[in-house]
Amino acid sequence: MMELTAAQRRMADGEDGEITRRLMRLLVRLGEVFGAERMVELSSVQVSGISYKSIGDPGLEFLEDVAAQGARVRVLTTLNPAGMDLQRWRELGFDETFAAKQWRIIEALTTMGALPTVTCAPYLTGNLPSFGQHVAWAESSAVSFANSVIGARTNREGGPSALAAAVCGCAPAHGLHLDHNRRPTLAVEVETKLTSRADFGALGHHVGKLAGSGVPYFFGIDTAGVDQLKSLGAAMAASGAVALYHVAGVTPEASQHSPAGLETVRVDRRLLDDARSALSSAGAQRPDLVVFGCPHASLEEIARLARRLDGRTLKTPVWICTARTTRDTAARMGLVETIEQAGGQVVADTCMVVSPMEDLGFGTTAVDSGKAAAYLPGFCSQRVVFDDRDSLIQGALDDEG
Ligand code: F3S
Repeated sequence: MMELTAAQRRMADGEDGEITRRLMRLLVRLGEVFGAERMVELSSVQVSGISYKSIGDPGLEFLEDVAAQGARVRVLTTLNPAGMDLQRWRELGFDETFAAKQWRIIEALTTMGALPTVTCAPYLTGNLPSFGQHVAWAESSAVSFANSVIGARTNREGGPSALAAAVCGCAPAHGLHLDHNRRPTLAVEVETKLTSRADFGALGHHVGKLAGSGVPYFFGIDTAGVDQLKSLGAAMAASGAVALYHVAGVTPEASQHSPAGLETVRVDRRLLDDARSALSSAGAQRPDLVVFGCPHASLEEIARLARRLDGRTLKTPVWICTARTTRDTAARMGLVETIEQAGGQVVADTCMVVSPMEDLGFGTTAVDSGKAAAYLPGFCSQRVVFDDRDSLIQGALDDEG
């Protein structure tokens, strides 16, 4: 039996309403399955399963039903990407029926009190927990970032369990909420310099397959910024189920652990190049579309791309996926205009994987993201060109390459 606080007991007993009782009982049941002895109090929740493409009518009806029964979130709750740009969907070619249903999903969740951030990088848009705080996040790339780069604590929640956690403000204390599960299980010695996001993505994709749901501990990555780490973690979460990794000298918990005695894998340039090649499935096919922003692009990434496109003309369309608030800031800085003048698009609220790309007439997509390269063939029937950002931009420009 799990030990509950008085407030949690009231929820489980139905004193806060029937829907809260049902959701609390779901959390208790999950806790029992995983052997949790108590709940942790949460500082925030990230809910996934927002795209109509992903959840369809059953998911839409479930969310509307929960909202209609009066469920309301108790903690800061943010949302994963939707299936379309919520403002410019018509201009970008999205279908009217799809758009109407997508909006109903957003309305159901905002009725419950969730913030319509609609991004997979909530840590860039106001949902930024501090070191050691417990959260319940349900986006695998964001889970990896929260655990590894921030040092917050979350398991890989699913859409329903995250929603239940948001309404009840707590989650079962098991898995990565507990110290002993945060120890490394596999050492990875990186023997080559990582020079691009594509390198980080390919490394992540390779290591994710080896680590499964374990905790890799990287050596030899001397420096890595936020965008590189989000790329590394997203790819490991896609090819495996990695929810936490450590990088010696870089991530905040690395110094608390020793990888001594662990199985060690080595990654040299030849192996990394092989991993990069394995992510390309398009052969000699040219891309119909080049997409950046998986996970959602930061302002710095948008600024870099704008500088690269300034005064140029694209012959292949380029989309940069990001959060609405990041796009708004980029627009105020003139970056969106620069990108649009070159023929590119800064697409908010969605991404190439959770939108119905295959219905928009694209068959071959170029990316520099290991996660996108892993998911696009299966989720969107796309052939993939995987390469560095600069090479992809070069190929997409009218006047060069
Ligand atoms: Fe985000 Fe979509 Fe990639 S949700 S992590 S941009 S697959």
